[in-house]
Amino acid sequence: MVLSTGHNRVRTAVFISGTGSNLKSLAIFSKTKISPISINFIVSNNSKAKGLNYAKKFKIKKKVLSFKNKKLSENKLLSILKKNNIEMICLAGFMKILSKNFIKKFKGKILNIHPSLLPKYKGLNTHQRVLNNKEKYSGCTVHFVNARLDSGKIILQKKVRISKKDTETSLAKKILAQEHKLYPKAILKVFNL
Ligand code: GAR
Repeated sequence: MVLSTGHNRVRTAVFISGTGSNLKSLAIFSKTKISPISINFIVSNNSKAKGLNYAKKFKIKKKVLSFKNKKLSENKLLSILKKNNIEMICLAGFMKILSKNFIKKFKGKILNIHPSLLPKYKGLNTHQRVLNNKEKYSGCTVHFVNARLDSGKIILQKKVRISKKDTETSLAKKILAQEHKLYPKAILKVFNL
């Protein structure tokens, strides 16, 4: 991705549905000297998402859209993002699938983090499926978003070893800790930094 002129930080929106711990890590990263991005908008489909509290904490604008009528919500969102000069989107635990039309409007500018070693374990309930299959390793992946679920070009991955004692909860926690480091690293890589 090419940095905009004058080395201004690329204006980024983060989309969440829940806790927002990845949003927090991105917000902290965005304040560092080396960050090529600024976080200027938070979007959620869930008005009860805990992560929305980071809007106040980091002084970031926020918007909740139900996505019950996807087309309507997405069109509204596109106009809000345009008005706020948003150039890039980071999905961070966003549990809605964006339409082809929406993705086209931000072609090559949407990133996602997924808690598995893609292309393995796309979709939901990743950790339980990994444990059921007695995998020795899992991990997390940051990738570009294309029209197919969890299938865009991989930017970076981190492998995590699974221990015999791991449960869905313990594995999720271990992987989440790695996600917080991987997402900022992947952003630096996208900008060739
Ligand atoms: C993270 O583990 C993220 O990888 C996962 O949801 C969690 C969100 O945590 N995303 C997906 O499963 C996307 N399909 P957070 O809200 O604390 O960042």
